[in-house]
Amino acid sequence: MSLAVNERVKVVEVGPRDGLQNEKRPVDVATRVALIERLVAAGVTHIEAASFVSPKWVPQMAGSAELMAALPRPAGVHYSALTPNLQGLEAALAAGCDEVAVFGAASEAFSQKNINCSVAESLERFRSVAEAALAAGVRVRGYVSCVLGCPYEGAVAPAQVARVAVQLREMGCHEISLGDTIGRGTPDAARRMLEACLRHIPASALAGHYHDTYGMAIANIAASLEMGLRTFDSSVSGLGGCPYAAGASGNVATEDVVYLLHGMGHETGIDLPRLAEAGAFICAALGRDSASRVARALAAACA
Ligand code: HMG
Ligand code: MG
Repeated sequence: MSLAVNERVKVVEVGPRDGLQNEKRPVDVATRVALIERLVAAGVTHIEAASFVSPKWVPQMAGSAELMAALPRPAGVHYSALTPNLQGLEAALAAGCDEVAVFGAASEAFSQKNINCSVAESLERFRSVAEAALAAGVRVRGYVSCVLGCPYEGAVAPAQVARVAVQLREMGCHEISLGDTIGRGTPDAARRMLEACLRHIPASALAGHYHDTYGMAIANIAASLEMGLRTFDSSVSGLGGCPYAAGASGNVATEDVVYLLHGMGHETGIDLPRLAEAGAFICAALGRDSASRVARALAAACA
């Protein structure tokens, strides 16, 4: 199937949250703000900036309220944050988040390890979070983790992913982000999982969230584009992973996604060289090389 050119594709930058939540040494708030300022300057409009979870569970996301207060607020830029429960939601609303995200899983074991409750209990909890957020006029995003495999249970059935996604949609989530948390998926598996979800939810309400542990994320995005998805989560420089999924690498690098999308004729509104500068900034702060092949190629071409 050939793709229509010049379609807008939404890129949700999750590096400041999904990326930095997994750093061994927490990154200070000033550096996180400086990264987000550079992402905004590169034209990124949807940024998952913070996470109002327990600092005992994820110390790297401490200071999220301070961070939100320090962010630039240009028109058209949206900042979201993770909110696992009403306590997190209250903090996110007070901090002025434009959108909040509840995060569930298609696997029981991962749900227990990540948020200390069963899938059913989590959905019950999310229902009150979604209700309160919508009443406050704030949009809610829903995540489903482990859509292409679980680090504890192995294979995950596409029908189970769809069941959780449908319940998130029914409670008012405007967008469901489908997370290959451990990056084990291949395009055929991604297609089967998406087919199950698309029987109940339109492609316009689904997002692909692919981690790149096995180097399959770009191939999975290409397959998802063919299935009609037009929203993808990614992390500048390929930062990150999940503290409760051992061995999971970062999300697919935003630089690589933008290069792919522009190469296919899609619009993102993102300036690739400036995005690469944001990536170089955070890599320098962390003292490591970029995981983005595109960023490395651009840097080599400039050297
Ligand atoms: P719990 O221990 O069951 O919670 O944790 P609790 O309600 O019993 O409370 C225990 C303590 O935590 C209390 O404090 C609460 O006040 C505090 P204490 O009395 O002991 O001093 N607490 C909080 N503090 C701050 N903010 C809050 C909050 N809630 C309770 N919101 C809980 C349950 C959900 C809180 C915990 O398990 C947690 O925070 N988990 C977060 C795990 C996490 O952030 N994982 C990474 C994000 S998910 C991910 O990366 C996947 C994704 O990228 C998609 C993909 O790739 O698949 C989204
Ligand atoms: Mg993730």
